[in-house]
Amino acid sequence: MRIENPERMAELGARIAAELRAGDLVLLNGELGAGKTTLTRGIGAALGVRGAVTSPTFVLARTHPREGKAPLVHVDAYRLTSAMELDDLDIDFSSSIVIVEWGADLMEGIADEWLSVDIVRPHGGQKVSSGAVDENTDENTDAEPREVSIAAHGARWAHSPLLS
Ligand SMILES: Nc1ncnc2c1ncn2[C@@H]1O[C@H](COP(=O)(O)OP(=O)(O)O)[C@@H](O)[C@H]1O
Ligand SMILES: [Mg+2]
Repeated sequence: MRIENPERMAELGARIAAELRAGDLVLLNGELGAGKTTLTRGIGAALGVRGAVTSPTFVLARTHPREGKAPLVHVDAYRLTSAMELDDLDIDFSSSIVIVEWGADLMEGIADEWLSVDIVRPHGGQKVSSGAVDENTDENTDAEPREVSIAAHGARWAHSPLLS
């Protein structure tokens, strides 16, 4: 589906959030600046998490508690090189909602069911001048459409209304 701007991306996050419960895993794929963190922020807002959802690049994983509900664990696997390193984070998958940016190649053997969201910038990354894109950067704030596809892996998501 076509997502026109960051606000629409946040709305998609809200639609995804409505389907999420403890034990769920969502993998976000797409190049730097694609909108993975923007989508996660939308999910977090709709889940009503405590604390701002920002790019967790330098902390690898950040847990956002929720009053009386499963926390949102936001992982940035960009710097992880093996599934073992991901395992070392000791994430309590069964009692959390876990979102992993860049996790596509790491989840084999750690989980067997997830929703995967692929975000593509059809016009490439020309707006990103250098380095990481994060919430502290003023560049790359221009709205630009993204192409998003959602796929299921495992029975949990097989009949999800989110599938494109
Ligand atoms: N259609 C869109 N969807 C999502 N983000 C967009 C869109 N158009 C522009 N942007 C901007 O692109 C950037 C995406 O950054 P971010 O979400 O941190 O990407 P990633 O986590 O994939 O590296 C943000 O600055 C966001 O405002
Ligand atoms: Mg990110």
